Amino acid sequence: MEITPSILTADFTRLGETLDDALQAGIRWIHLDVMDGNWVVNRTITFGPALIRSIRDRLGDNIILDCHLMITNAEETWPQYVDAGVNLVIAHIEAVKDPATLIDSLHDAGVQAGFVLNPDTPVDTILPYLQNLDLVLVMSVIPGKGGQSFMPEVEEKVRCFRTAIDQQISDGGRHTRLMIDGGIKAHNAAQVANWGVDIAVVGSGLINHKGTIAENLAEIHHELGQA
Ligand code: DX5
Ligand code: ZN
Repeated sequence: MEITPSILTADFTRLGETLDDALQAGIRWIHLDVMDGNWVVNRTITFGPALIRSIRDRLGDNIILDCHLMITNAEETWPQYVDAGVNLVIAHIEAVKDPATLIDSLHDAGVQAGFVLNPDTPVDTILPYLQNLDLVLVMSVIPGKGGQSFMPEVEEKVRCFRTAIDQQISDGGRHTRLMIDGGIKAHNAAQVANWGVDIAVVGSGLINHKGTIAENLAEIHHELGQA
């Protein structure tokens, strides 16, 4: 299972150094949590395309950047994030009116398309689009902030997507990747890997005051049995 850091709990005045530390530790994928002050329940604002452009310019083209859009109008504003240099746009299915058109538009623009669902949103909101999606993200917290407790009840959702994706792959279809986001730390990383997750977002479990990113990542890899 691959690990991608969320920078939500970073000290934004030191963000460049934090990103350098992540790359130094072997990270090759960064997860960018965009909140517009409206869509998440706690009305948080995080950052937008300008910061993402600076991150892309600093990290170069070999690092994967995804943007997790917790915003009301992803269908209208996604081109700003593509222009800022993301490789993958992940939109909340609860906020999208015309999912099929959004996927096609993203692919036409040369970026990958992902959908994400909240812990209480049924999987059949996304399943009809699975064959055209590059990634499905299951939230394991209510989106809005870093450092929340993991919700183990999403296991059934994750396993359902895993089964559907495996079936799709064996039918010769797209290798849609399965991601989980929220409350993942060293103590539960192996559990979600066992559910069949391909990529886990880790925010406060990597960027915290307990250790360096390299130390925290090594602990997670140890739990996963990865060198
Ligand atoms: C939640 C975000 C996250 C999350 C990750 O709204 O999408 O990516 O904050 O942070 P941790 O790992 O601290 O839950
Ligand atoms: Zn996220």
